[in-house]
Order: sequence, then C-alpha cells, then structure tokens
Amino acid sequence: MNRRAQASQPRSAKRIARILILPGDGIGPEVAEQGVRVLDAAAKGAGIELAFEEGLIGGASIDANGSPITDDVIERARSARAVFLGAVGGPKWDGLPFAQRPERGLLRIRKELGLFANLRPATVFSALADASTLRPEVVTGIDLLVVRELTGGLYFGEPRGDALVGGLRESRNTMVYNEVEIARIARVAFEAARLRRKELTHVHKANVLEVSQLWVTVVEEVAKDYSDVILHHQLVDSMAMLLLREPRNYDVIVTSNLFGDILSDEAAMITGSLGMLPSASLGEGGVGLYEPVHGSAPDIAGKDAANPLAAILSAAMLLEHSLAAPEPAARIRAAVGSVLDDGHRTIDLVGDSGLASVGCAAMGELVLQRLGK
Ligand code: IPM
Ligand code: MG
Repeated sequence: MNRRAQASQPRSAKRIARILILPGDGIGPEVAEQGVRVLDAAAKGAGIELAFEEGLIGGASIDANGSPITDDVIERARSARAVFLGAVGGPKWDGLPFAQRPERGLLRIRKELGLFANLRPATVFSALADASTLRPEVVTGIDLLVVRELTGGLYFGEPRGDALVGGLRESRNTMVYNEVEIARIARVAFEAARLRRKELTHVHKANVLEVSQLWVTVVEEVAKDYSDVILHHQLVDSMAMLLLREPRNYDVIVTSNLFGDILSDEAAMITGSLGMLPSASLGEGGVGLYEPVHGSAPDIAGKDAANPLAAILSAAMLLEHSLAAPEPAARIRAAVGSVLDDGHRTIDLVGDSGLASVGCAAMGELVLQRLGK
C-alpha cells in the first residue's frame, strides 16, 4: 500500500471495535441491555469507541429462523471483536429434538469460535457477605477463579446419542480429551494463577476415569513451566464438599467441561447469588464471548426482576480481555460495589436483609450513575 492510500484510510475504522450482542431468551435481553449500557458508558469514558450490532441465538433464533443459531450469526461473531450474550433456553422449546434446542446455539458458537477457555470468577462483594446461605465468616473474602475447559469432554465427545440395543433404548455420551486440549487449558490456568495467589487446584476424578488420569499427567507436565505456582490435585466430589466447607482456601481451579459447569454454579451460589457471576470464554481466534453464568430464568422473564449485575460484570471482563482496558473494567466493578454498599439489591439478593428491592433496569441505572462519578 502506498503512503497516500494509507493516509486516506479512515484512522478511526481501526479503533472502533465491533461488538455483537446476542440477547437470547428469557431474562437474557433484559440483563444484556443493562450490560451494554454500562459497557458503552465505561468504554466511552476511556476513549474507546464501540459499534454494537445485534443477532439472534437460542429460542429467539429458533422462532425466527428454525435453528438455534444461523451461519450468518457465526460469521458475524467470528469477525467481531467480542460477543456479548444474554442467556438461552426456556420451556417453550423444551419439547424440541435435542439437536434443535436453544442450548445447541450456545454450544455451537463456543465450539466454532474455538472458545476453549471459560473463565468464571466468583468473588464476594463485602456488602453481600450475608446474602450467602453460608455463614458470613465462611464467605467473606472468597476470590475464586474457575477455569473451565469449554469445547471438549462429555459435551462434545463422539459417539453420542440414542440407539436401540437388543430391543432396549440406550443412550450414550463420550468423555474424551487429548493432550493438546488439556495442556492448553492448563496453561491458561497457570498463567492466571501466576497473576494471583500462585496456587492452582486441578479438579478431576482420576480414581475412576482414565480421562482424568490423563489430565493429571498432562497438568503435571505443564506445571514444569510454572515452578512458581503451587499445584494441587483434588477429586471432584471432595472439591464439591470443600468449596462449601472452606471456600477461601482456593484460588484458581482448573477442570474439564462438565465438572466446571457444576462447580461454577456451586461457586456462584456460595457468593450469594447466581445473579452475580460473570464469565469470559476465550480461545485462539481472538474473539471473546462474554455472558452471565446464570441462565434464562423464564419464570421471572419480562418482569423487570432479574439481576443485571452478572451481565454488567461480564462487560467488565470484555473490557479487560478483548479491549485490553483494565481501567474502565475496574471502574465498573467499583461502581457495582458502591451500589451494593449503599444497600441497593435486586430481589435475588435481598435474602433476610430487610432491604427493599429494585428492578433490573433501575439497578443498571444505579451502576451507570456511579460510573459517571
Ligand atoms: C453454562 C450453561 C450451559 C452449559 C448450558 C446452557 C448449555 O449451563 O454456561 O454453564 O452447560 O455450558
Ligand atoms: Mg452451567
């Protein structure tokens, strides 16, 4: 390219990051709306310009297009800087054949974008220590990061599906990992641990599963490059118990797809509400996907009763991981902390605190106000 052509390139075109919003189903659209408002404001405050576009996923896409995600949406996601997702699923689509259900849309986008590393931080905001079902002295100061493998294991293994065997209905799923899949997620976890307490717990079921035995072996091999990080191995059943007993003993946890799915819900609930937990899904391709860990909660959809904080905290993760902007991300987290400190709660966080509750939109507004300060 000659100089002239270079000079005539609109300079801003490079700096405007395209964000694809996939609101999805249930409370997805409500919480995504608040997340996007906060994301936009925080980015603008840091001089980052974002261009938002929308697409369909889950039941919304089934209703419009007959499938839970279209090739067009996958392509738009691939070329975006980041994808911001609400939630998928609902009773309306529960009767559909397995391959056409809303969840398949989410699984397909994770797989096709190569988003193998799912980061699920679970921290306790000090104002919420009494919102947990565990005693405040057990949960105060919890700061966990679940690093969940997201594109392999039981979720995707072949063979899978139903068969008629000897006249009996049978069904199977396959847990399979190769060493490359294990090593790359282990590296993500060790890198994260290095920046934190330098402790990593690998969660497995190696007393029963060959797959877990391979995880132990490969994680140990990767550990040789991270001699500054202390590595522990923990069986998944006892981990489920230990997380309830002494959650503060743990920092970064790395595990396979299914174990991570289960333990991240547990970690979330320990912190007070599933409505607080954000997530980032990252891979090799450069696109990141950000979504609250909670689901579509169809029972409260459309009632302005959802907690948008997980979506808002997912926006903070987007700034950090896809836009290399930790400063506005920290401002979002501080704004959330300040709103909670002032006693504002969505219904899921009220517990027996005696505090009044605010709606989803009002909670988004409160965070925006604090951000402006
Ligand atoms: C999650 C969800 C999904 C999963 C579902 C909706 C497919 O539970 O993100 O944890 O199992 O991964
Ligand atoms: Mg889950």
